[in-house]
Amino acid sequence: MLVEGKSYRTIEASSDLTRVTIIDQTALPFKFELIDLKSLEDVIQAIKIMQVRGAPLIGVTSAFGIALAMNNDSSDQSLLDAAFSLKESRPTAVNLAWAVNKMLEHLKPYDTNDRAKIAWLYANELAEDDIKTNIDIGRAGLPLLKQIKSSPLNILTHCNAGWLATIDNGTALSPIYQAFEEGIDIHVWVDETRPRNQGMSLTAWELTQAKIPHTIISDNTGGLLMQQNKVDCVIVGADRISIDGQVCNKIGTYLKALAAKAHNIPFYVAAPLSTIDNSFIGEKKSFEIECRHPDELLRIKGMNNDGTVSEVKIGMSTAYNPAFDLTPAEYITKIICEKGSYNPESIGTLL
Ligand code: MRU
Repeated sequence: MLVEGKSYRTIEASSDLTRVTIIDQTALPFKFELIDLKSLEDVIQAIKIMQVRGAPLIGVTSAFGIALAMNNDSSDQSLLDAAFSLKESRPTAVNLAWAVNKMLEHLKPYDTNDRAKIAWLYANELAEDDIKTNIDIGRAGLPLLKQIKSSPLNILTHCNAGWLATIDNGTALSPIYQAFEEGIDIHVWVDETRPRNQGMSLTAWELTQAKIPHTIISDNTGGLLMQQNKVDCVIVGADRISIDGQVCNKIGTYLKALAAKAHNIPFYVAAPLSTIDNSFIGEKKSFEIECRHPDELLRIKGMNNDGTVSEVKIGMSTAYNPAFDLTPAEYITKIICEKGSYNPESIGTLL
């Protein structure tokens, strides 16, 4: 997508295959900064501290992490060790394990002399696939937006499931970008998404770059707006989807789904098929809902009047900071994926 008129992706391999360049998402919206990751350790650190984040992006970044590891040591043991430590870096988004497993399966049969080269080729292929998939998600979601006849069309989104959460185009924001390109009068309500503020810092920044009208709201405002008929639909992304259509996404998603159901407002989830976890059904779930450091809640970063950025403490008690929640299928109108839009309960049949 364009930043100040120039086209960027969230991650790109260098032509000599020795590093990847990422957009440091912890610096946004105050500073647009590119940084180089030169080793597996750099990649793991960037995922942990969320310089890269968003389910599809951490998946592809991990694939490049394996490529970087192969540059150093392409043995079976090194491959397995890299896969293990990448999977440990963030636990909830299934796309991370999905991409690591794809790399493992693809690389295992190759001779160790060829592995590094093949790893870069395949990681690049996963990145290209992500871009195409997201365009298809946009195409699948567009008719759902077009069938709502309000002008402007008021869409509420939570967290960031835009191009910054993917390689390009985004998932939840992909139909929004396509609708805007078609000239549909759109306005996006952007949940700030405490505690890390991905809505305020990332989604609002993306929409500003794309010149799409939007308004930041506190996470508690959506209910009031729904009561006032100011929300026509909700679209969010997903970090993991069960084969019976339960959606794990950024903390606060569930509350928006409850409110949307109460007001008969369509609640859409947009995600690639790689977000479906085929071992997750009903109560049977083997993944962890990531609990992040309490300081993410107790401290906040902002820009001072002189343009410098600093962090301050805003709370003094014990804090609890789970990063994701689970929305049952009954609150979801459709899951939009690269193959079309589906009733959540039937999403598993696509695998
Ligand atoms: O903690 P984050 O910022 O990685 O969480 C991101 C989300 O919850 C997104 O909504 C989700 O990954 C979908 S991204 C296309």
